[in-house]
Amino acid sequence: MKPVTVLFVCLGNICRSPTAHGVFETMVRDEGLTDVITVDSAGTGDWHVGHAPDERTARTARQGGYDLDHLRARQVCVGDFGRFDYILAMDIANLRNLERIAPADFTGKLALFLDYTDQPKRSEVPDPYSGGEEGFAQVLELIEGASGALLLHLKSVIASPQSLSG
Ligand code: 4NP
Repeated sequence: MKPVTVLFVCLGNICRSPTAHGVFETMVRDEGLTDVITVDSAGTGDWHVGHAPDERTARTARQGGYDLDHLRARQVCVGDFGRFDYILAMDIANLRNLERIAPADFTGKLALFLDYTDQPKRSEVPDPYSGGEEGFAQVLELIEGASGALLLHLKSVIASPQSLSG
């Protein structure tokens, strides 16, 4: 079976989406699912293309046991809609930007990442970039919860492929 492909998207691809990339990739690896789920991340903006994750993001992730050192920022592109089954936005502005460039024939799932959790509908992973250290810890906590919920969802999809993207 073709792997299920997941793309996490934020604005800069140096804080929230690389955290989701690293956390979810680690969970997938720990479950022995690297052959069936592939993970990537991107930003809607281009300011940080080629940059490593923000140092505060990398440090917070490292303290939680996640290594983000291999990640480099890139900008999302229209071709991503042909490559990914799930394109998951961190906030509503990211989602709106993705909806604007999504091809009409995209058959995957374009949604907020926190839609996979029991957080209230339309909940966002807040942008920590311009705030204090506590914002980075909050981002990691939200992302760990959402990653666990997404993994449960994908395991059920893999067990019953007709529900892909549901
Ligand atoms: P991210 O955070 O979208 O979670 O990567 C941001 C990083 C950089 C900027 C904005 C948000 N920026 O404006 O440079």
